[in-house]
Amino acid sequence: MNDEERRATLDAIGAEVRACTRCRLHLGRTQAVPGEGSAATEVVFVGEGPGANEDQQGRPFVGAAGGLLTELLGAIGWRREDVFVTNVVKCRPPGNRDPEPDEIAACGTYLRRQLEALDPALLITLGRFSLQTFMPGARISSAHGTVRPVDPSSGAVDALALALYHPAAAFRQAGLRQTLFEDMTGAPDALVRAREGRAARRATPESNPQATTAMANGRAVPPDPPAEVSPDPPGQPVAVGTPSGVADDANQLRFF
Ligand code: URA
Ligand code: SF4
Repeated sequence: MNDEERRATLDAIGAEVRACTRCRLHLGRTQAVPGEGSAATEVVFVGEGPGANEDQQGRPFVGAAGGLLTELLGAIGWRREDVFVTNVVKCRPPGNRDPEPDEIAACGTYLRRQLEALDPALLITLGRFSLQTFMPGARISSAHGTVRPVDPSSGAVDALALALYHPAAAFRQAGLRQTLFEDMTGAPDALVRAREGRAARRATPESNPQATTAMANGRAVPPDPPAEVSPDPPGQPVAVGTPSGVADDANQLRFF
C-alpha cells in the first residue's frame, strides 16, 4: 500500500465508524471519533475512548487530555500532525465510564484495520485499556515507560509499543504529569529500535513471516535519508534523559 492508498483506506474506515451501530455505545454518541493524523506515519497513539469534547467535535484528544498530549509530543520535538491518534473505542462511553469488554471487542475490528493500513513501527499506548490491547496481561503501574513487542493480532504486525499512563490521569494524580513527561522521553529511542528491528527482519524475511506479510503490504524499509541528515546507525546515542527533553536530529520521525 502506498500512502495514498493508506489514506483512502483510513478514510473508508472512518466513514464506517461514523455510521457504526455494532455496540451500545452508538446510542449515546453525538459523533463517533475514528481518529486522525498522518497516513504516512511510523507512530500511532492509542487512547481509551472519546470524552465529552471529542464526542462533540468528532476528533480525538481535543480536550484537556489532548492539550497535554500535544505538550508531551512537543517535549520531544514531535508534531501531532505527523503521527496518527485514535482510541480503543470510537464512541464516548456514557459519563466517561470505562469501556466494557464487549464494546472493546466490537470496536476492535476498526482499530485492527487502521493498524493494518498504517503498519506503524511504534505504538504509544495511553492508559490501561490501550495497554491491554497491545501488551495483554501487562499492568500499567509496572509497564509504564517500558517498550515491548506488540501482539501482532492487534493489526500492527511488526511494531514495538511504549506504554504511557493516560494523560487524563495526570489531572487526577499530580505526580503522574512528571512521570508522563519522563516516560515520553523514551519514544525517540523506541522508534529507532523499532526501525532497526524492522530493517533487520526485512533483510532476512524468512526469519519472520509477519515481516514478510508487512513487506507484501508494500511498506518500504525507511528510505535513505537526504545527505545532510544523519541516518540512525546502530549505537547512535539516544535522547532519553537529555536535559532539554528534545530529541537528537537522528531520532526525529522520518516524515518531519
Ligand atoms: N481520552 C481518550 O482516551 N481519548 C480521547 O480521544 C480523549 C480523551
Ligand atoms: Fe461501533 Fe465502535 Fe462506536 Fe461501538 S464504539 S458503535 S463498535 S464505532
